[in-house]
Amino acid sequence: MTEIQIHDKVFVPFIDKARIDVRIAAVAAAINTDYAGKRPLILGILNGSFVFAADLFRNLTIEAEISFVKLASYKGVSSSGNVITAIGLEENLNGRHIIIVEDIIDTGKTLHTFLPDLQLRQPASVAIATFLTKPSALKYDVKAAYCAFEIENKFVVGYGLDYDGLGRNIPELYILKD
Ligand code: IMP
Ligand code: MG
Repeated sequence: MTEIQIHDKVFVPFIDKARIDVRIAAVAAAINTDYAGKRPLILGILNGSFVFAADLFRNLTIEAEISFVKLASYKGVSSSGNVITAIGLEENLNGRHIIIVEDIIDTGKTLHTFLPDLQLRQPASVAIATFLTKPSALKYDVKAAYCAFEIENKFVVGYGLDYDGLGRNIPELYILKD
């Protein structure tokens, strides 16, 4: 593995596929235990989560459904500055157990803003499964019940995560070179 260039930046290998696979199996095992008989609805947040969601979902052995939403934010609509709505969320969430799947929780703002919107649909429960968290970047009270990796506060690409549109198809995780 060597360094790669995306746009104007250079990235170096960070977490290889074997380590990713091990952690995803562990997260899936926990969900299999916690959600047996609950038929959870996995709700992937596009675009970044699609790779993690696919691998996680393949590792679930319990009955489970999957759907995806895109979040759109409108600046200045509310006092908090942002309202986030889900595009393409057609499922009836009433009484369902929802597991939100994210690529990364950085400041936590996206999910912090989205969760109240989700609660309006009266799900039985909502939990978050994220591929990555950056604990030192967190600014909002968002807790992931399931997390594959906690990483330092540096920019990463690959495994679904992009740098300005590119890098999502890289199978492993790369980190910005110092
Ligand atoms: P948050 O709302 O601050 O938690 O940011 C979440 C979003 O920021 C993610 O869904 C990503 O699209 C993006 N993001 C944050 N950190 C990174 C990174 O290191 N690489 C790629 N995208 C990132
Ligand atoms: Mg992005």
